[in-house]
Amino acid sequence: MHTGVFIHPDRVLGRRSMMLYGHFIEHFHRQIYGGVFDPSSPFADEDGLRTDVLDAMRKIRVPVLRWPGGCFVSSYNWKKAVGRDRTPVFDKAWRVEDPNTFGTDEFVAMCRKIGCEPYICTNAGTGTPEEMSDWVEYCNLESEGEFARWRIANGHPQAHKVRFWSIGNENYGSWELGAKTAGEWGRLVRESAKLMKHVDPDVELSAAALTDIEWNVDLLSKCGQYLDWISIHKYWNLMAENNDFADYEQSMAYTNDLDTDIRKVRGLLTAMGLEKRIRIAYDEWNLRGWHHPNVHSIRQGRTKEEYLLPRDKNDINSDYTMADAVFTACFLNTLNRNCDIIGMANFAPVVNTRGCIFTHRDGLVLRSTYHIFDLYVNYLGDEILDSWMENGAAMHVVGKAGNHEDVSVLDVLATRRRGTNDLAVAAVNKHPSEKQVLALTAEGNYTAGSYRVVTVNGPETGSYNDIGTEQVKLTEGEWLPVTGRTLEVTLEPHSANVIQLS
Ligand code: AHR
Repeated sequence: MHTGVFIHPDRVLGRRSMMLYGHFIEHFHRQIYGGVFDPSSPFADEDGLRTDVLDAMRKIRVPVLRWPGGCFVSSYNWKKAVGRDRTPVFDKAWRVEDPNTFGTDEFVAMCRKIGCEPYICTNAGTGTPEEMSDWVEYCNLESEGEFARWRIANGHPQAHKVRFWSIGNENYGSWELGAKTAGEWGRLVRESAKLMKHVDPDVELSAAALTDIEWNVDLLSKCGQYLDWISIHKYWNLMAENNDFADYEQSMAYTNDLDTDIRKVRGLLTAMGLEKRIRIAYDEWNLRGWHHPNVHSIRQGRTKEEYLLPRDKNDINSDYTMADAVFTACFLNTLNRNCDIIGMANFAPVVNTRGCIFTHRDGLVLRSTYHIFDLYVNYLGDEILDSWMENGAAMHVVGKAGNHEDVSVLDVLATRRRGTNDLAVAAVNKHPSEKQVLALTAEGNYTAGSYRVVTVNGPETGSYNDIGTEQVKLTEGEWLPVTGRTLEVTLEPHSANVIQLS
């Protein structure tokens, strides 16, 4: 199937922020303890951090890392996880003991080693505005007051200067500890924001939101002038109670629902005249929801078999296939297309659970989604160009809920490396079995001398990476001469590609 794609190199729609390629890590299962923080690991550095994980995160240039939750944060007391004597606490969200040996100071130190911005989500569940602003004091005041002095006494004379803070996590949800009503939320956020901004006016604040009009109108009407961001989350294949994976075809059906929530929040921000002031932080997203039965439910699990051991099912590498890779590429295209209003996005999570990096005793597995981040971060341009498709094919798929969808086979995003003549076109072929031929034409008098295709793919839709097997890879094609105005590129089935023109 031939599809014409036309690019206008001089029509720049927006400049992507690298913050679209952000990540999230939570005190859940093996993300922190036994994941990135594992003092007993042969890969651990002097702070107990796995250097192989830090290296892998640096390679995909993680720009921002959100922590410590997620549901975890809604009953978290940050003060028990700083200082010489750490207090192990019972984590009421996930019902396990947290040793608190990894806390704010360890998190900030880890971000400095990775080279990413720390982004702290505060406890607006059981927490108070005072505790949130005390946290800002601890991190950002040089030496004034008890909390900055406490940080210094803990061996950190320099302020951490944490710039990004979110007030709360999903406090709208019945599953969240300390959940709030729409009427309560706006007032709590406003008073928290006031205290936090009085401590450090330079902090950028977000607050938990969703696409619900009542929740957001109350929030924004009370706090619009205090907020820089509004946070939304989305997992498409929800598996909290049943570890029931959508297969390739069912996963492709979700690609008709990539910008639904973005459009709703954009519309509301615009209606309230806030679209130039407040940006969207899509600060948890993943095709796959996490599996943790009998904790988000009223009836809590009684035995470890009921609520704890099932979490290990998140860690099965063969579940993360080209379905995850192709979906992730399509969603990254969506984020880039909306980069005028989306300033940050955080893949949830980065390590273990449904993340792109899997740790084991002897090393790492880089799952299929890791290679998509490598492709987008390291091979795509930062200016989003106007482009359009002619006779783009559609394919019929049936979603997880039996929903019949006609989805476009191709998902294409044209970009340019700012200040250069280098174009880079992200081109995803969602079709499970058919190649697609892209006929690429650049409008105006743009001419390219050479091109190459960088591809993330595996032999089949179910390809995955695991210990001892690497079926999904990123491969760089050879640079080839461009002959003529239109460049034809063949895209393999179920593949994510970047066509670089120089
Ligand atoms: O399934 C994990 C949870 O998903 C995160 O803790 C929460 O933020 C979201 O609901």
